[in-house]
Amino acid sequence: MRKILVTNALPYANGPIHMGHLLGYIQADIWVRAMRAMGHDVTYVCADDAHGTAIMLRAEANGISPEAQIANVQKEHERDFAGFGISFDHYDSTHSDTNKARSQEIYVKNREAGNIAIRPVSQLFDPEKKMFLSDRFIKGTCPKCKAEDQYGDSCEVCGTTYNATELLNPRSTLSGATPVEKSSDHYFFKLPNFAEYLQKWTRDQGRLPVSIANKLDEWFEAGLADWDISRDAPYFGFEIPDAPNKYFYVWVDAPIGYMASFENYIKTKRPDLNFDDYWKKDSQNEVYHFIGKDIVYFHALFWPAMLEGANYRTPTGLFVNGFLTVNGQKMSKSRGTFIKAETYLEHLNPEYLRYYFASKLSDKVEDSDLNLDDFIQKVNSDLVGKVVNIASRCAKFINKDFDNTLSAQCTESELVQSFIDAGDSIAKAYEDREFSAAIREIMALADRANQYIDEKKPWALAKQEGQAQQVHEVCSVGINLFRQLAVYLAPVLPSLATEVQAFLQLDSFDFASRKTILVNHAIAQFQPLMQRVDAKAVAAMVDASKDSLAAPAAPVKAEKKKEKVAQTKAEPKIGEADIIGIEDFMKIDIRVAKVLDAATVEGSDKLLQLTLDAGEAEPRNVFSGIRSSYAPEDLKGKLVVLVANLAPRKMRFGVSNGMVMAAGNGEGVFIVSPDSGAKPGDKVS
Ligand code: 2FM
Ligand code: ZN
Repeated sequence: MRKILVTNALPYANGPIHMGHLLGYIQADIWVRAMRAMGHDVTYVCADDAHGTAIMLRAEANGISPEAQIANVQKEHERDFAGFGISFDHYDSTHSDTNKARSQEIYVKNREAGNIAIRPVSQLFDPEKKMFLSDRFIKGTCPKCKAEDQYGDSCEVCGTTYNATELLNPRSTLSGATPVEKSSDHYFFKLPNFAEYLQKWTRDQGRLPVSIANKLDEWFEAGLADWDISRDAPYFGFEIPDAPNKYFYVWVDAPIGYMASFENYIKTKRPDLNFDDYWKKDSQNEVYHFIGKDIVYFHALFWPAMLEGANYRTPTGLFVNGFLTVNGQKMSKSRGTFIKAETYLEHLNPEYLRYYFASKLSDKVEDSDLNLDDFIQKVNSDLVGKVVNIASRCAKFINKDFDNTLSAQCTESELVQSFIDAGDSIAKAYEDREFSAAIREIMALADRANQYIDEKKPWALAKQEGQAQQVHEVCSVGINLFRQLAVYLAPVLPSLATEVQAFLQLDSFDFASRKTILVNHAIAQFQPLMQRVDAKAVAAMVDASKDSLAAPAAPVKAEKKKEKVAQTKAEPKIGEADIIGIEDFMKIDIRVAKVLDAATVEGSDKLLQLTLDAGEAEPRNVFSGIRSSYAPEDLKGKLVVLVANLAPRKMRFGVSNGMVMAAGNGEGVFIVSPDSGAKPGDKVS
């Protein structure tokens, strides 16, 4: 039996869990459940990533302490993970005494080993907020192309990277003040001390996906730089020992949170486990981190280096997943595809999503798409149409005519045995994280089971005289085949598996248990196991996720850009789903406009083409998705509210210059109109 510790990337304690997060958590959970079903001893821990400027500012904006902020968010995260059946043994927070002690210890060990340097760094400082500003909180004019409103690290218009101090007309996005340059001592982790070690480490068998190791080689060639691990007060985090007013940068104590969460698990629930058995240098137990590809840099370089420098073991492997798109595009609040875990759970069964993700995931670092039409089709056809159907077709006869007991002999032992044998390669596919291959094999078995029942037609036999025993035997074979499928799907569909286990009255549902064929075995009354996905529920979920004020999402950025972000990322970004400051709101130019003309759009059943007087020299052309609720003639002469400074959007039918504001409730679209007296061009605020 292998002893394995598994972690997922720790979510930031400043925003909700959404579909993008869930891809990685569901992937890890399926693996954990599969490994447990194979008889391994798997411990699975996680925690909220609670530190950093973003969380500190979020708490301030919410008028609460950072401690209260992270406690509230942690409750929501734990609720959402439980809702999706993520089977953590322990969920903690990086803001714990255990993590503080462990972080300080690892730092001191590295300092003693000569891996820490101190030197002054000149940075922009907000004189009003009295804090140093990371690049994310500084905006100004690009020194190269002069584009305005660019962040402190790079220009989104011309792609130039620069130091924030080079920006023209810089301003703090926190206070609007002009930042001043100020120097302070910073603490650095000497990553180049580990260059040779890491180059070998990243090439060790099974440590990393090869595509990632290749990418890391580019970074090795470019040369590793010292890593700035300190932040000046005010900062929500842990103090650095012997360094007054200096705090660990959030990415120092975040991965150490993996260790600390495990340690707190031992302290609070499992005193029989031993921390050193998993973390001492020569430990034979395995440690795996499931992470997204955007945080490889931290996990494949800084993290093993910090551990090595402090004489701990390093992870056995990093399992890296790609990003999630929804309907082929980056998740977007305006399209309703920025779907929070909580919103999903209000509308749909979590097992649908677990199944859909499983059917897409492999061991490759590839992006996955949640296509909502495909999602409905796949779940309905595979799970409801194929798998659950087998049980409902056979169980009713066993329940009704055979005293809830399977036949005394299995007449198709070869067929059942072939299902049992298939379990070996399915188990291997799970272990290799080739979930889509496992699902393909399971569905091929489901097809064979249905074919068997179609051929034997127990419903027809039941109507014939003297065929009762045949019906009994056929349905008993069907139930045996169904049991095999349910065992194989259990890592993906744990709730379904629990119900099937109860229905079949089995003590164990692990992979080995499948090897005993069920004969003369009592089962319970069959209950419907899974409903079809209701397309209306999916539409309602999308509607509930819609934010009509949100700007259209940018297209998914090119690979290169994402990795650059990974390298330069300094602070966690305040999540897309979050509040905006008044400064951002003031950037939206909202005006009253009058509809001069409205017309249907050839080839679109959603859009109307509006010609608007927005108090400008020329009328504006705007396409609006309101056709389902308005006829063109209802609109002429009407006053509407226009978002006037949206970037023009090129559509198939022409260019749309702005957006007409409307409310949506799933049943209709309702244009927002100013009260009488307003005139075209009036500002709305
Ligand atoms: O990128 C993120 O969402 C981080 N909160 C992940 C941290 S993982 C680990 F290092 F703690
Ligand atoms: Zn530029």
